[in-house]
Amino acid sequence: HGTSKINEQGRLEIGGCDTKDLAEQFGTPLYIVDEALVRQRAREYVEAFKASGFRFQVAYASKAFSTVAMCAIAEQEGLSLDVVSDGELHTALQAGFPAERIHFHGNNKTPFEIEMALDAGIGCFVADNFSELELLNAIAASKGRKANILLRITPGVEAHTHDYISTGQQDSKFGFDLAGGAAYKAVEQSLKLDNLVLLGVHSHIGSQIFEVEGFRMAAAKVAEFAVEVRDKLGQVFRVINLGGGFGIRYTSEDSPLPVNVYISAITEAIRSNFTEASYPLPEIWVEPGRSIIGDAGTTLYTVGTSKDIPGVRKYVAVDGGMTDNPRPALYESKYDALLANRATEPAVEKVSIAGKCCESGDMLIWDLELPEAKTGDLLAVFCTGAYNYAMASNYNRIRRPAVVLVKDGGADIAVQRESLEDISRNDVLPQRLRKAE
Ligand code: LLP
Repeated sequence: HGTSKINEQGRLEIGGCDTKDLAEQFGTPLYIVDEALVRQRAREYVEAFKASGFRFQVAYASKAFSTVAMCAIAEQEGLSLDVVSDGELHTALQAGFPAERIHFHGNNKTPFEIEMALDAGIGCFVADNFSELELLNAIAASKGRKANILLRITPGVEAHTHDYISTGQQDSKFGFDLAGGAAYKAVEQSLKLDNLVLLGVHSHIGSQIFEVEGFRMAAAKVAEFAVEVRDKLGQVFRVINLGGGFGIRYTSEDSPLPVNVYISAITEAIRSNFTEASYPLPEIWVEPGRSIIGDAGTTLYTVGTSKDIPGVRKYVAVDGGMTDNPRPALYESKYDALLANRATEPAVEKVSIAGKCCESGDMLIWDLELPEAKTGDLLAVFCTGAYNYAMASNYNRIRRPAVVLVKDGGADIAVQRESLEDISRNDVLPQRLRKAE
């Protein structure tokens, strides 16, 4: 998919770059990002909204993969940006991302983060709870500014990827509960606080969602709430943000819908619910993360050791693992892979791909069909663009890999591989522990 293909040498090529050359030039493990595919995904969202006639913002959820280069691509594609920390905000600003298109999320924004975001002039905060409303208002007031806000509400629709539960979302650390009345009180409270400007509401029902039903249910609940607020408080929501969560295909077990199917379900649900209530049509915002960057990422590893336990299992170890991709260990996530340097050879055995960390849970893929993998072969694991680099760690003091953007036969470093100096850069040896001269 994307620009990936098997070339005449029988090797995996992405963005016109042979993965063997990439491994030689940049080393492994290596995160490879197919820039054309990222841009294509961004455009699919923008085009789906344009076709709907709604005013819209597509805010890339940068938590999925926040780097300066990625923020620059999102900017060029006309996306907005969702950030959740001072670090993500800093990254966006360093990329020259226009502050007015940045939305700040999170259930516990610190005073430092709020000040930083106000000073930068971000577009809005997604306010999460009552104490935050007070804090936002106080900090904005101290600066003589107003803070635009959306209220994050928990609409009582929870997506467990396949089935939707329409109660029981009350027990969440995020947002103002709709059914219990907190959302309504939050609107009242926001209207009383002079330095807050209430733009509308936000809801996010989950991640890696394969159906449209949950979004339809959320849209209907939000519409019902909007009407109640208008009728009782005279406040009209200009913006409805329905969050992210659009699924992608990690393996053949996953069956996501095309982007335009999700978006037209959302726009149609908003249109019908709001028109029925003779309510002015709002702007619609969404926040896709995974579905913008996920399938554009591939991780390239070098095969090291193998261990065959006859009749039980063969382990093939690569030079990375849970430090660059914690998702299998954390969520039992499934991935697909192939031998990038011998991509046309038929599979002859079933092996399990182990990482190099000192714990048994550091497994990337169980029971993968491969040609006989030898030391020095290259293993490409697909669909690692989202929540891989973003969640990478230095466990075992392993250095985080480099990220390269590939496009039209060119490869550009987007993140340098960490050096050994980087690993201990922040370490300090207290004076009293130093060796005597
Ligand atoms: N908006 C909000 C408020 C969110 O909490 C999230 C994700 C998104 C948007 C983007 O969702 P996406 O389109 O990427 O599904 N680390 C986990 C995923 C955590 C998602 C957290 N929130 C994983 O690796 O699967």
